[in-house]
Amino acid sequence: MTSGQEVAALMKQEIGEQPEVWRRLLASDQFDGPAQQIAQRRPRMVVLAARGTSDHAALYAKYLIEVVLQLPAGLASPSTISAYGAKPDFRDVLVFGVSQSGGSPDLIRYLQVARAQGALTVAVTNNADSELAQAVELHLDVLAGPERAVAATKTYTAELLALYLLLDKVRGGSATAKPLPDLGEELLAQEPHIADQAQRYRFAQRLVTTARGYSYPTAREAALKLMETSYLSAQAFSAADLMHGPLAVIDTQVPVLAVVADGPGGHTMHPVLERLCEVGADVFTVGTADAVRKSTGGLVLPGSVPEEVSPILEILPFQQLALHLAVARGGNPDAPRGLRKVTETL
Ligand code: F6R
Repeated sequence: MTSGQEVAALMKQEIGEQPEVWRRLLASDQFDGPAQQIAQRRPRMVVLAARGTSDHAALYAKYLIEVVLQLPAGLASPSTISAYGAKPDFRDVLVFGVSQSGGSPDLIRYLQVARAQGALTVAVTNNADSELAQAVELHLDVLAGPERAVAATKTYTAELLALYLLLDKVRGGSATAKPLPDLGEELLAQEPHIADQAQRYRFAQRLVTTARGYSYPTAREAALKLMETSYLSAQAFSAADLMHGPLAVIDTQVPVLAVVADGPGGHTMHPVLERLCEVGADVFTVGTADAVRKSTGGLVLPGSVPEEVSPILEILPFQQLALHLAVARGGNPDAPRGLRKVTETL
């Protein structure tokens, strides 16, 4: 291997495949049956179990479920069942397991117990033969194809879109997601700009990511991707939480990555951007033109999609940033230290 691009070949290829994966999902008819069954069961609340990147997809779905379906939703703590042996009453609860591999024992156990305890269970995976997919009543295949890079990229946005298409069907359906593949291609073409940005962070030791609402999972996922590929300490905060204390860690040496979508969550970010500028922070924003103007630098998202689908686009530049930063720091994001493709936790 002689050049950076060869080092990161798998991750680069899989980042680039995302618009095609989204086209496959948009053409799929697998959402109708499960959406009907969910609507008929009329759950009273929703619980989502997931880990790592998939947990960020689950967090996105939590926002959708509460805002769009107006149902309370929460993220599971799988150890309550897998380690403590709890058997909660899951009647009238819809329980999701989100996992690209469908292979982590704690998630499988959580979904098995939830089903036995009365939940309607759904798995969202990239492996229809996985134990998680077999453990549930309803399975959605995210159709991402084999993901070989250790850092999950295409399975993340495929999970987001699969969850969106299902939940959108439950509410009656819309055409909101249709422009995403073309917009994704447009956004991915901005890679040279992101590669330049990566050079700015080459020697950074710490970094903070922040957003609100639907985009908060993007901030979490961007931080995880940077940590696992570039080995820097990246901490994600809801911008509301950032203002309640952690703002104190930010100075000219701690760059901030912000996500500002066009919608109610994004609007709440504007005073935060102003405050960050007051403390002299270096703020790189992915989002609306207005927000990028208020930052030190950034990338304007193409088109103007509703905030509820914006996270599917927003993460692309951060995936590219993680790749380029890892390479700039002498690493190989295809094989980050200490990580395997399938992580099994109990
Ligand atoms: C990050 C990554 C991990 C996984 C996590 C869950 O790039 O790949 O954080 O997302 O180990 O794995 P699954 O989705 O297979 O349950």
